[in-house]
Amino acid sequence: MNRREFSQAVALGASALVAQAPAEDESKAAELPTKSAVKVGAANAACVADYQQLAEAILPSATANYVSHGSTDQQTLRENVAAFQRIKLLPPLLHGVDKVDPSTTVLGQKIKLPVLLAPTAGQNLYHPDGILATARAAAAVGTILGVSSSCGHTPEQIAAVSTGPKWFQLYVPKDRNVGRRLIERVEQAGFQAVIVTVDLGERKDADLRNRFSLPPDLLRNHLQGYGFQVPKNLSEAELAAFNLRLWDTGFTWDIFAWLRSITKLPLLIKGVLRADDAKRAVDLGLQGIVVSNHGGRRLDGVPASIDCLEKVANAVEGRTTVLLDSGIRRGTDVFKALALGAQGVLIGRPYVWALAANGEAGVRHVLQLLEEELISAMHACGCASIAEISPEVILKNS
Ligand SMILES: Cc1cc2nc3c(=O)[nH]c(=O)nc-3n(C[C@H](O)[C@H](O)[C@H](O)COP(=O)(O)O)c2cc1C
Repeated sequence: MNRREFSQAVALGASALVAQAPAEDESKAAELPTKSAVKVGAANAACVADYQQLAEAILPSATANYVSHGSTDQQTLRENVAAFQRIKLLPPLLHGVDKVDPSTTVLGQKIKLPVLLAPTAGQNLYHPDGILATARAAAAVGTILGVSSSCGHTPEQIAAVSTGPKWFQLYVPKDRNVGRRLIERVEQAGFQAVIVTVDLGERKDADLRNRFSLPPDLLRNHLQGYGFQVPKNLSEAELAAFNLRLWDTGFTWDIFAWLRSITKLPLLIKGVLRADDAKRAVDLGLQGIVVSNHGGRRLDGVPASIDCLEKVANAVEGRTTVLLDSGIRRGTDVFKALALGAQGVLIGRPYVWALAANGEAGVRHVLQLLEEELISAMHACGCASIAEISPEVILKNS
């Protein structure tokens, strides 16, 4: 079989035939791709899992564990992915859909695809350019960048490299004056929303074993960039203890009244799993809810966020924007989340892996892969636009 016949056979779905066909000689046989022979590199990465493999090979193992692992027994981490796989699509045929448009609008912002970048900490640990590379990629692709208050660069530094839409994720300091000054800077830097992450308390066995912590110079930079006065000449242990004393991990719903008093920016709450909490967020006038279990990095044993989505979406009855993260690995996952009531999704690890593997180009590429997979799912399910994605295509358990 020559190359042309081989391509035709594959196009006709005759890969079994191809596999059985005797090779003409050794050199041609070596050209046939097999799972073990195809080496994954940034240039031929085909899916999120390829970027995971690449990142885990490149990063120091303690850093790779910090990114990829989940809390304690990692049940929720696994469940986030498994729950998406349990949901089956049952597409209606022949809807006559030719062109598919994956663009949408989230909180008044037109974006090219309904996949946003979730806030993630410590991006300088994954790539020398850190979040600056991520920010350039998000702007180039045309989506919203979530910026963690622990990302490693200041809001001003990020705004200087990216004119794309940006939301700031706040970890709440005990000293509210420090928080207020930071939010003022975020507004001045042109950020368009504030996300408050409320599921606090990461505990990962691998991090404990590896004694993983932010290097002292990065920690000092981070705290100063946030706006804290950090005493000079602290030992590593003293700096770590100083850091621990700065953060408020016991705040209540009152935090939103305080934030409302200091900013007019839209407010989102990240970490919602329960319908009653979602209703409370709506009653407080919050502009958005992120259904999330922090990618299985917080309390282990909570359900997959996709399994909580429908109840949350029903509870809020369209009165606020509903987004979802945790476990998105494929364009079909994005499609399922939209079908079950989300207006958009956020990804965390998928773009962190791509950042580690290939910087800005990697982040752009992983977004492109998810977009292509989403377009393929929309096409197969007869949805020409995001608005046409509905629960009708989800197979209900009979
Ligand atoms: C390395 C890493 C760091 C993170 N840091 C933060 C953070 O600083 N603030 C925050 O709200 N969420 C943080 N998250 C959680 C993400 O925002 C998001 O909820 C989660 O990654 C989504 O799950 P996924 O990784 O399965 O996509 C982090 C996630 C990862 C993987």
